[in-house]
Amino acid sequence: MGEPLRNRDVDWDLWPVSDYVDEIYRAVQPDDDAVLAHHSAFYRRFEPGHFGRSLELGAGPNLYPLMVAAAVSRDIEAVEPSAASVAYLDQQLREGPDDSWQLFYRRCRELQPALPATLGEALGRVRVRRGGARDLTPDTYDLASMHFVAESATEDREEFRELCHAYAGSVHRGGWLVAAFMENMGRYRIGTGPDWPGYPVDADRVREVFEPVTTDLTIDRVDSAPTSDGYETTGMVLLTARRR
Ligand SMILES: C[S@@+](CC[C@H](N)C(=O)[O-])C[C@H]1O[C@@H](n2cnc3c(N)ncnc32)[C@H](O)[C@@H]1O
Repeated sequence: MGEPLRNRDVDWDLWPVSDYVDEIYRAVQPDDDAVLAHHSAFYRRFEPGHFGRSLELGAGPNLYPLMVAAAVSRDIEAVEPSAASVAYLDQQLREGPDDSWQLFYRRCRELQPALPATLGEALGRVRVRRGGARDLTPDTYDLASMHFVAESATEDREEFRELCHAYAGSVHRGGWLVAAFMENMGRYRIGTGPDWPGYPVDADRVREVFEPVTTDLTIDRVDSAPTSDGYETTGMVLLTARRR
């Protein structure tokens, strides 16, 4: 491997949305199911519509974090730098989600009965904005969630910390954070496309980065499902916390 890739070294607009969704999100894999169960247990602590303003950072084309957050959120801003992913999200919201997302929504409703009857209604709480971690205004949101972003967007140790701290700082003091990280994943590939940056993290590294900026920090992990040819990972690290 050559020099570590930084966030600006790749063209996120070229993100291979169709290959990514086909490879990862056409069925509910056991590790994603564990994320849904973990997040739903957290969200069930709050009344429906508890959070006025929620963020999903680096949303990509993944609709399930938006679904799980919908029961407790009156408004969700999906912030994503890639033109390709923003186009996919816009299209899913405008024309209705691909059928395969209904599998995820059925599972979300089992775990969170307070969710609206239809996925369309849940996604009606979502607005999409093109942008990245560095465009966030600090102290803005009541809740912020982030899935497989900071460790999949750089190979630089310090830049990983910066991305995580921009995410954490986007909620006001006392606001809540929910996140998932790929565990021990390095540089990765999707389909036959180019390499994307990956920084291997584990529960200790995630704790080290978030402890200084949070209280009530919980860190869990789950084993991963078998992965495709383009990347290897040992599991997922799951976080909940409040901004300090
Ligand atoms: C591995 S994908 C994860 C996508 C999605 N969250 C999911 O759960 O499948 C990494 C995502 O991070 C986004 N990203 C890259 N640089 C970013 C930045 N500086 N700020 C926010 N998101 C970024 C990419 O565009 C991509 O959507």
